[in-house]
Amino acid sequence: MAPIISLLPLLLLCLPQSVWAGVSYPDCTAGPLKGNLVCNNSASPLDRATALVAAMSNTDKLNNLVNNSPGFSKLGLAAYQWWNEALHGVAHNRGITWGGSFSAATQFPQAITSGAAFDDPLIEKIGEAIGVEARAFANAGRAHLDFWTPNVNPFRDPRWGRGHETPGEDALRNGRFAAAFVHGMQGSEATHRVLATCKHFAAYDLEDAGSVTRFNFDAKVSLQDLAEYYLPPFRECAAARVGSIMCSYNAVNGVPACANEYLLNTILRSHWNWTGNNEYVVSDCDAVYYLGNAAAGHRYKASHNAAVGAAFEAGTDNICWASDGAAPNPSQAFSQKLFSQATLDRMMVRQFQGLVSAGMFDGPQGAYRSLGASDVNSATNKALALRAAEEGIVLLKNDGVLPLTPASGDTLAMIGFWASKADEMLGGYSGTPPFNHDPVTAAKALGLTVTAATGPIAQASGDTSGATAAAKNAKVILYFGGIDNSVEKESNDRSNIAWPAGQLAQIKALAALGKPVVVVKLGTHVDDTLLLSMPNVKAILWAGYPGQDGGTAVMNILLGKTAPAGRLPMTMYPSSYTQDAPMTNMALRPSSGGYPGRTYRWFDKAVFPFGHGLHYTNFSASLGSPSFPSTISIQSLVSRCTDSYLDRCPFPSLPVNVTNTGQVASDYVALAFVSGSYGTAPYPIKTLGSYARFANITAGQTQSASLVWTLGDLSRVDASGNRVLYPGNYTVLLDQPTLATFTFSLTGTDTILDKWPQPS
Ligand SMILES: *[C@@H]1O[C@H](CO)[C@@H](O)[C@H](O)[C@H]1NC(C)=O
Ligand SMILES: *[C@@H]1O[C@H](CO)[C@@H](O)[C@H](O)[C@H]1NC(C)=O
Ligand SMILES: *[C@@H]1O[C@H](CO)[C@@H](O)[C@H](O)[C@H]1NC(C)=O
Ligand SMILES: *[C@@H]1O[C@H](CO)[C@@H](O)[C@H](O)[C@H]1NC(C)=O
Ligand SMILES: *[C@@H]1O[C@H](CO)[C@@H](O)[C@H](O)[C@H]1NC(C)=O
Ligand SMILES: *[C@@H]1O[C@H](CO)[C@@H](O)[C@H](O)[C@H]1NC(C)=O
Repeated sequence: MAPIISLLPLLLLCLPQSVWAGVSYPDCTAGPLKGNLVCNNSASPLDRATALVAAMSNTDKLNNLVNNSPGFSKLGLAAYQWWNEALHGVAHNRGITWGGSFSAATQFPQAITSGAAFDDPLIEKIGEAIGVEARAFANAGRAHLDFWTPNVNPFRDPRWGRGHETPGEDALRNGRFAAAFVHGMQGSEATHRVLATCKHFAAYDLEDAGSVTRFNFDAKVSLQDLAEYYLPPFRECAAARVGSIMCSYNAVNGVPACANEYLLNTILRSHWNWTGNNEYVVSDCDAVYYLGNAAAGHRYKASHNAAVGAAFEAGTDNICWASDGAAPNPSQAFSQKLFSQATLDRMMVRQFQGLVSAGMFDGPQGAYRSLGASDVNSATNKALALRAAEEGIVLLKNDGVLPLTPASGDTLAMIGFWASKADEMLGGYSGTPPFNHDPVTAAKALGLTVTAATGPIAQASGDTSGATAAAKNAKVILYFGGIDNSVEKESNDRSNIAWPAGQLAQIKALAALGKPVVVVKLGTHVDDTLLLSMPNVKAILWAGYPGQDGGTAVMNILLGKTAPAGRLPMTMYPSSYTQDAPMTNMALRPSSGGYPGRTYRWFDKAVFPFGHGLHYTNFSASLGSPSFPSTISIQSLVSRCTDSYLDRCPFPSLPVNVTNTGQVASDYVALAFVSGSYGTAPYPIKTLGSYARFANITAGQTQSASLVWTLGDLSRVDASGNRVLYPGNYTVLLDQPTLATFTFSLTGTDTILDKWPQPS
């Protein structure tokens, strides 16, 4: 026996880093915490956390400022891993241990696909489903209570390797997505299901662009672009009382984000009042190492300890250390007086406020403690994952070939490497799904006769002869292609956004057979210009990273079992864009010298614009109503406003009626853009002001809804970052291309709704 026992510690040492005991709920009735106010759930989270921290020694506090906290043995608090991921489902990561009844978790579509649904109630449901599964993992000792999701940086540049983790390029859309996701995941009650983390604060959207990387990139951002574009999604996170915010690797205007007092204190904590019951700032993993004297980093501080001190003093509360450089050493930084006692106590209280609000000290009767294995992979969550994929699929082109109506006995040719690549359909930060349905699997499950052949991946070329044979007996050829996670991934930016050349050659050869070709595009940005020039490419569908049931969703849309209604959440740029716009140029507005500007607001030569999406039917629409005022005084809007933030006050809801004038029942996304000329600064042609998704408008039916928006959604941001409501004539443009318009006037004088704090 003895030798076996003595082997045990060795075995434990050999366990992969990803194996952690999950959260351990302290015993408040018998353990060392008995009688401590932290165990009294009638007291406020702040008082409870403060009482706990008062019982800690400095040594213990200093040991527990990193993601893999060893715990506080005297207080009976076990080790805690702050690093858990759940971007679109519980994911494989540090704090999460898979196995037993927890060998799989629902894998929803990646955010770029669910973002394309433009359906906030759907996003809230997804957030809730993920939160429930995550908490079930935690209750079983297989995860902790903090999950570093969602990623809400606007998808500024089509090359960005992590753009698919985000809901898209629009700041309003990302903010609403973030709020819906966070509310769903955390739950709105005082006690949180789990804590969400909005990342990456801020202006992070570059991995590796030649001479600069995310570890040393200094994003030069004007105050106007910062306030108008890069920060608003995080403001919605703050307003939704997200449990934490992750500061990013990059610097913003010379100061690394995790040491950026202007961002972390002046804007986030003070201006946005992010001072609730549960919030902490965590550094991206190794960001604090790279803000110090690391050769590949910012070299913002002369030593690693100075970097640790600067991050803490600026407002970071927990350092995530992945692998690069030496481990952070808060004890040394503290003894060198690089941060203060008050800062140390502040960080501890913030961390524990979060854990208190997630019920860590509430005992077995606490909220959400009964969630368990039966709540993971439920039939409801599986159905939601399928629905989300279907809602997010975008019909880019259709010459009438879709929906397919195969007669019995017809063969379907399914060609391209994406046709049977189910694991790729999940995208970055994934867990193990309960099943993985690629298109070929899904087509066979639907009883279709399929001939399949693979094709080249990424930009590689490949043999196309198998494809031609597979296409031989088919009436219609389905081609599954696009970019994938072998190149579209964290740490990597692409230099090329053209269609992969080998795939294009294969599609060309197939199109030459004279049969209709339907291209189903997975992954994000590739330029469809050359496909659009091939007459036999009759239809193009975009599905992004549609998750565990992505193949089923794609087949349901192709066969017309579900009507497509998703909208492109990002501009499709021509491939020449990568020559015209340096990836390091953060400016949204075009400028002389050929810089083309960014996003639909400024770039007007899109192959397909943001918001593009066709249907299997037609719609007509009308906006406004006889009682909607044609003239509104800014003064009256402002004087009625009771919110301490004027820009968050509601603007009168705009009625919209949508009629299905075709033959097929379909969802419809109402996108309301705001346009007009007012003020003196140059303004975008149009800006998304509100949106709503109508469900299942049947043939001939009219449905009504009200577009909800705020004063801020109508405002413009001036050069200093102030949000201003301008008098003038406003035109609301429904849809892309415009299906209906509505015009009203605002009278009065320029009014600042949000005075932007200036950096000192
Ligand atoms: C728990 O906290 C509440 C609110 O602060 C307080 O009224 C109550 O006396 C406390 N209970 C105990 C047992 O300390
Ligand atoms: C700031 O947030 C707190 C809650 O966390 C709230 O009580 C307070 O009213 C807020 N202040 C403003 C100015 O909105
Ligand atoms: C939509 O209407 C146009 C013009 O009437 C027509 O050509 C087209 O076929 C219709 N599309 C669908 C999907 O019904
Ligand atoms: C929308 O439909 C309702 C009900 O039919 C009607 O009363 C209203 O006037 C319509 N509004 C517009 C803007 O067409
Ligand atoms: C759409 O509505 C029709 C009529 O109410 C109903 O028969 C059909 O099942 C609905 N479809 C979906 C997908 O909800
Ligand atoms: C708004 O439109 C009216 C009528 O067309 C015009 O007289 C007025 O000058 C416009 N106002 C502004 C600020 O452009």
